[in-house]
Amino acid sequence: MGGARGRGFRDFIKHIHPPKVANSTAGVLPTLCLGGLSFFFFLLLLVTGLLLMLFYQPGSPAVAYDSLTVIQDVVAFGWFVRSVHKWAGQAMVFTVVLHLVRVVVTGAYRPPREFNWVIGVLLLLFTVLLDFTGYLLIGDATARHALKVAHALAGEVPLAGFALQLVLFGGPPDADLAGVRVYLWHCMLLPLLVAVFSFWHFYRVRKDGGVKWPL
Ligand code: HEM
Repeated sequence: MGGARGRGFRDFIKHIHPPKVANSTAGVLPTLCLGGLSFFFFLLLLVTGLLLMLFYQPGSPAVAYDSLTVIQDVVAFGWFVRSVHKWAGQAMVFTVVLHLVRVVVTGAYRPPREFNWVIGVLLLLFTVLLDFTGYLLIGDATARHALKVAHALAGEVPLAGFALQLVLFGGPPDADLAGVRVYLWHCMLLPLLVAVFSFWHFYRVRKDGGVKWPL
């Protein structure tokens, strides 16, 4: 990549990777690798999720459920990719929560890192929503009921309830559009939000002077 655009890209990479890292923060102990592990699981979810998209059919719960049966029983290594996707999702929720605990224990939420804490809270919200929307995509009885509950809860929000139901589910919970809308959130919008906010998060770690250590 050449010219001003190339320089812009190089500068961006330099902003994320500091030229020097303090010796005290270079080991595993200060972070326990929990933020990095969360991002690793996110990348694994992207790869396995893209593979699942090749065969998953969004829409009515019955169609979605049948396509998952095909992935599970017919597609070569489909059961394996689905299992890795499922467990990487649980692992990501687990490591993100442990990462938050690490940040609290080391007091890294305090100034000058308070803004990055807020970005982190949004990342936690997106991660939980990714897990929940993934569970809705299964299309079995549990997922159908969970979708109805989520739809009803959204409707309870004062003033904005109806608009929220339209934005989140596209309409009533038992219409095929709801399955497509949840698929859109799970496969495009939420992963995009996690990707953009993660890079912002990493950039802030660098801007705030690196990882907080010693305590
Ligand atoms: C998708 C979820 C997340 C990813 C991928 C992620 C990733 C990272 C990474 C790689 C770091 C560098 C140090 C480390 O690994 O500990 C970091 C630091 C940090 N994270 Fe996260 N994070 C996530 C969620 C959160 C959450 C939920 C919070 C808190 C609400 C949070 C707050 C912070 C803060 C305050 C720092 C700076 C810590 C310091 O300077 O010691 N992050 N994050």
